[in-house]
Amino acid sequence: MDIKGSKILVTGGSLGIGRETARQLVGLGAEVIITGRNEERIKAAAEEIGAIALRADVANEADIDKTYAAVNERFGGLDCLLNNAGIGRFSTLEEFTAEQFHEVMNVNVLGAALMAQRAAAMMKKAGSGTIVNIGSTAALRGFERGTIYTASKFALRGMNQSWQAELRRENIRVMQINLSEVATAFNNPERVERDAAPNKLRAADAAQLIISLLQLDQRAMVPEVQLWATNPW
Ligand SMILES: NC(=O)c1ccc[n+]([C@@H]2O[C@H](COP(=O)([O-])OP(=O)(O)OC[C@H]3O[C@@H](n4cnc5c(N)ncnc54)[C@H](OP(=O)(O)O)[C@@H]3O)[C@@H](O)[C@H]2O)c1
Repeated sequence: MDIKGSKILVTGGSLGIGRETARQLVGLGAEVIITGRNEERIKAAAEEIGAIALRADVANEADIDKTYAAVNERFGGLDCLLNNAGIGRFSTLEEFTAEQFHEVMNVNVLGAALMAQRAAAMMKKAGSGTIVNIGSTAALRGFERGTIYTASKFALRGMNQSWQAELRRENIRVMQINLSEVATAFNNPERVERDAAPNKLRAADAAQLIISLLQLDQRAMVPEVQLWATNPW
């Protein structure tokens, strides 16, 4: 797809991978709406990168309605949904709580599904579109304290495959990108970005991969891809 002039919605665009991808997309001439839960943060990010800010929580259905009302009003269509908003809670099997479990599932799984449902309806009408799901290497294998997060990202992977099966024939591409650790504010309650480290991916690496996949012609779809730091130790 041609990024220039395309209309793109990035959930979780106020920090990290979402913000950097949105920044690069705007630089390539896309019109981009970014969402996030914190009003100040989303406004500051949008101003900095030249995107349109929308305070909206993917775990809240009224906010999802609001998001698509804004997409309709500002764009009148949607070329790409970047399902990026995600959170993590990391507790052992013995320690995790149902509350933590629901919190993560509501964002990473149900939120992503409801966002994709609305996007698919618009894209079907238009006869094309792309949905990109930001997964994780936690979608591929478990690890200590991974009960909740791996459950959510394995679930996202299953949904990604189901949406592919349903939407390919509609000329809608569905892709999942599984990243190893990225130096961002992820899982930091203060929402402060971690310093870049030589053994961790950076948001710019993820953005570069996402954009290269989007730039493939609409007839070409990468169903799933892994991006690893070369030497994470
Ligand atoms: N960092 C990693 O190591 C890593 C590795 C693999 C995969 N991932 C995945 O990559 C995605 C982005 O992570 P990141 O590292 O960029 O994290 P981040 O720095 O914490 O950024 C997350 C973004 O999502 C927003 N957000 C969180 N919950 C939201 C919600 N319910 N509704 C709307 N926006 C929400 C945040 O803003 P507010 O807090 O203001 O809402 C922020 O803009 C996630 O899906 C994560 O699982 C991350």
